[in-house]
Amino acid sequence: MPKILYLKASPRGNESFSNRAAEAFLASFLAAHADYQAETLDLFTATIPEFRAPASQAKYAVMSGKAPTGEAEQAWKAIIDAINHFKSAAAYVVSAPMWNFGIPHRLKAYIDVIAQPGLTFSYSPQTGYTGLVTGRPIVLVLARGGAYGSGTGGEAYDHQAPYLRTSFGFLGFKDIRTVLVEPTLAAGPQAADAALAKAIGELRTLATDPTLVKA
Ligand SMILES: Cc1cc2nc3c(=O)[nH]c(=O)nc-3n(C[C@H](O)[C@H](O)[C@H](O)COP(=O)(O)O)c2cc1C
Repeated sequence: MPKILYLKASPRGNESFSNRAAEAFLASFLAAHADYQAETLDLFTATIPEFRAPASQAKYAVMSGKAPTGEAEQAWKAIIDAINHFKSAAAYVVSAPMWNFGIPHRLKAYIDVIAQPGLTFSYSPQTGYTGLVTGRPIVLVLARGGAYGSGTGGEAYDHQAPYLRTSFGFLGFKDIRTVLVEPTLAAGPQAADAALAKAIGELRTLATDPTLVKA
């Protein structure tokens, strides 16, 4: 049974605009794709490997063609497990708030774990970098207090959407869909509710888009 993995990166539960929009997407997606099951990875409550000195040593060892040893080997094993779990999905949805123009630290920590040589990307001097997580869609559901989308004048401050698209693109994702929920604060509660309703409408359409998941 194929799996859609939901990476939940707002700690605000049902208060969160990105969580609510992503969960509306998931419900529609599962209704439209009865063969799929969903799994949620709540990045604020899940245990994910800490990327500290041993993991860093392991990464540099692997990049120079050596096998990690000792503590580095243990750290690398935990990273391999997290990556195997990540790669076990056939489709992905991410809910993420904008925090200080970027992404919450827990989502960054997760990306630091899953972006690894030989596992999610490869490198050769001849061909450069190649992403290894291919052939699956990812839907980014991004909430912001202000407005940074196309035509708002705030585009240059947005280090959330471009960063996520670049990072997942680097890992091999080509089908990256982005739905914004904005502004959730700057223009008051009515504008926030309208932004959420608009995003949910877009996401419900996307959930049944035949180009998102090929039968
Ligand atoms: C730590 C923190 C930093 C934030 N930084 C920004 C920011 O840089 N720009 C912005 O427009 N909103 C910022 N906000 C507001 C959130 O982006 C906004 O409340 C959004 O709806 C959060 O997503 P969520 O509702 O899914 O949790 C910040 C909120 C917090 C808690």
